[in-house]
Amino acid sequence: MQQLASNVHVSSHPLVAHKLSLLRDKSTEPKKFRELVRELSWLLGYEAMADLSVVPREIETPLELVTGSELEPKVGLVPVLRAGLGMVDAMLELMPSAEVWHIGLYRDERTLKPVEYYNKLPDAATVQVCLILDPMLATGGSSAATVDILKAWGAARIKQVSLIAAPEGVATLSGAHPDVDIHVAAVDSHLNERGYIVPGLGDAGDRQFGTFAGPGSEPGHADDETAEVVRRLQRDLGA
Ligand code: PRP
Ligand code: URA
Repeated sequence: MQQLASNVHVSSHPLVAHKLSLLRDKSTEPKKFRELVRELSWLLGYEAMADLSVVPREIETPLELVTGSELEPKVGLVPVLRAGLGMVDAMLELMPSAEVWHIGLYRDERTLKPVEYYNKLPDAATVQVCLILDPMLATGGSSAATVDILKAWGAARIKQVSLIAAPEGVATLSGAHPDVDIHVAAVDSHLNERGYIVPGLGDAGDRQFGTFAGPGSEPGHADDETAEVVRRLQRDLGA
């Protein structure tokens, strides 16, 4: 098995393993799929935020004064549209005061390169810690581009929270941004020649939102250019 870098955190929680298996199952319908994305996001978010700092805060219980804790950094949740949307509510349950900043990216099917289509970040960063929310870390192109955007914005600390990663994507993101912690439920075997994670779960956006565009869009129909992009990533990984 491939050795993972210290910035990569794969959950070992049995509930995560159980829910992830249900999520992978191709017979899981969109309603159940969305519920599982939400539940897994809650569990992974809890783990991803374990090292956030707190400051002391005096509070009065019904019995006496006590020194409690208050989360120190301002946290920004950055869902990557579309599929990251399904992870937001769970994270907001954990941290109701978090700000939510949306980034719209889609992956060009042929080149597998991310294409930005939505970004309304203000000029300067308003938070200290950003959590990028995207269920799939495949080639890593979308997450590396999102980190580029957030660093240019002035985000001091960035974490990626995904449900499933491919080794190729972990290598791309860690190579470009070794300071970014990656929290996932699983690192799978590899990318297929269309850039889909194997065994994976298929298309996370389509499975959440019930948008299946027909057999041509199913994982497995390779284009020469796309297959070459994947082969290059796999050569880099083996190098
Ligand atoms: C999926 C997924 C990631 C991206 C991962 O989005 O949600 O954003 O692909 O692939 P990468 O690591 O190779 O960049 P997609 O482009 O399918 O858009 P969608 O969420 O709108 O369906
Ligand atoms: N995007 C997905 O939704 N699934 C994959 O396996 C790869 C990219």
